Amino acid sequence: NNRNSDSRGALIVLEGLDRSGKSSQSSRMMSYLEGLGVSAELWRFPDRSTCVGQMISSYLANKSDLDDHTIHLLFSANRWEKRSLMETKLRTGTTLIVDRYSYSGVAFSSAKGLDIEWCKAPEMGLLAPDLVVYLNIPPEKAAERGGYGGERYEQLDFQRKVAHHYQVLRDPSWKIIDASLPIEDVEKPLRDMVLDCVKTCKKGKTLLNLWS
Ligand code: TMP
Ligand code: MG
Repeated sequence: NNRNSDSRGALIVLEGLDRSGKSSQSSRMMSYLEGLGVSAELWRFPDRSTCVGQMISSYLANKSDLDDHTIHLLFSANRWEKRSLMETKLRTGTTLIVDRYSYSGVAFSSAKGLDIEWCKAPEMGLLAPDLVVYLNIPPEKAAERGGYGGERYEQLDFQRKVAHHYQVLRDPSWKIIDASLPIEDVEKPLRDMVLDCVKTCKKGKTLLNLWS
């Protein structure tokens, strides 16, 4: 029997500052879900594999300069080019663990001084996540972790502004985890939140668009 025809996957987004642990947590989550036999894929934005993604990557590496509005729209376009595949995956029962999404788009660009409503506009109509988990870490602590790779936004003063703009953006549905805790202590509550969300979506929770 085809269980996928009547159950959908969950759209789960991890957000947070650079070095907050999103990438480690999302790959650990993948192994965990695999072990449970949950059909899941790990996605990340920016998706640097596309033409748009390569322009973004070159900007982040300081190899090209772009106007703040232009790079904002490229980040958004990079999500739009994946939207239909995302919907297909979800509707056919695959859960997506997504490392950054529209909230990064708005938090980082508005931290540069762009108007928040202007920043949100191009994100409207993308799929709304079923769960947003914010890995909360003081900017100073994230910076201490080292391994800031030298990309454009990886600077303490800017990350402080981004943290503030994430707070402005945050709504009551977001789940917050203290990401300065050891990796296992972040992982445990995250697993519970993810499994709970996967279960709710399987029961037929409606797939919505941003920002709703
Ligand atoms: P990454 O380190 O997760 O690959 O992300 C690269 C940088 O791009 C990171 O500093 C956050 C930033 N970013 C934006 O400014 N806008 C966006 O829409 C996304 C997805 C990331
Ligand atoms: Mg980074």
